[in-house]
Amino acid sequence: MNLKRPRRLRENEAMRSLVQETVVNKEDLVQPLFVVHGKNIKSEISGMPGQYHLSTDQLSDTIKELINLGIKAVILFGLPDRKDAFGSEAYDPRGIIQQAVQRIKEEFPEMLVITDVCLCQYTDHGHCGIVEDGRVLNDESLELIAQTALTHVQAGADVVAPSDMMDGRVAAIRRKLDVNGYQHTGIMSYSVKYASAFYGPFRQAAGSTPQFGDRRSYQMNPANAEEALREAELDVEEGADMLMVKPALAYLDIIRRVKEQFRLPLGAYQVSGEYAMIKNAVQQGLLDNDLIMVETLTSIKRAGADIILTYFAREMAEWIDNQ
Ligand code: PBG
Repeated sequence: MNLKRPRRLRENEAMRSLVQETVVNKEDLVQPLFVVHGKNIKSEISGMPGQYHLSTDQLSDTIKELINLGIKAVILFGLPDRKDAFGSEAYDPRGIIQQAVQRIKEEFPEMLVITDVCLCQYTDHGHCGIVEDGRVLNDESLELIAQTALTHVQAGADVVAPSDMMDGRVAAIRRKLDVNGYQHTGIMSYSVKYASAFYGPFRQAAGSTPQFGDRRSYQMNPANAEEALREAELDVEEGADMLMVKPALAYLDIIRRVKEQFRLPLGAYQVSGEYAMIKNAVQQGLLDNDLIMVETLTSIKRAGADIILTYFAREMAEWIDNQ
């Protein structure tokens, strides 16, 4: 029978890997880390097994382990000591992120340090900008966001990643960095960040749940794709060096469309809720951890992501080593 037989290419492992189109590499992965004030703190985050709150003195071991595994980039999130209406620890040169970056870069200059630039962990109301009469103000927030980015870069950050979704933040940050002599520092913009329910575990871990309302007046409506392209286009015009889509798995179509339309490296963020769903199902014996990890990360890359920010980065590197 003269059938076309695609199964010939699936006959055995060597054949399958010969024709495999998409491979996730360690070089694609960025490990998120949560940094806290204090000493000797390494406490597991509830709901996110294998992820920790780390004090700056505990960063060394973690970074060393990541480097030994071949992970070359981290993204840092900070938990401040104090919160106020203007999120002032976010742009305090002695703030938690600034201290953490300094420490990492002193000890491990080869580790690429990306910092999340946002105010929500630092404001007492939990919004990503300044609030007045229940509204999140845009232009007034930009100066604080740009100042936050500048202090991160002054501390040694290699890349800043604004995640607030205010209009004009990429331009504001670019200008601020340039006039201060940091023309060479890049911006990875969370260009397409949806107002997603998948951020739940992160907000618990970072203490950044909005105290009133939600983020839908600045983060994107999950129903919109054309708007995603408009957001990405603005960031390109404003000078972003890399774009990002977030979350990842529920937005693979967006990843694909942004990748096809713009000629910039594209990141995708497999967020806390995606990770927690998998880990919880694994703990209940419903899913196989490694198979799901590899399948989801591969699908994110297949959709078009060049860079994957994922809580699985360390584990994935271990898996790659064991192949
Ligand atoms: C800060 C920020 C958030 C995440 C990354 N940066 C939370 C939010 O927007 O509420 C989410 C990351 C995750 O869920 O893993 N704005």
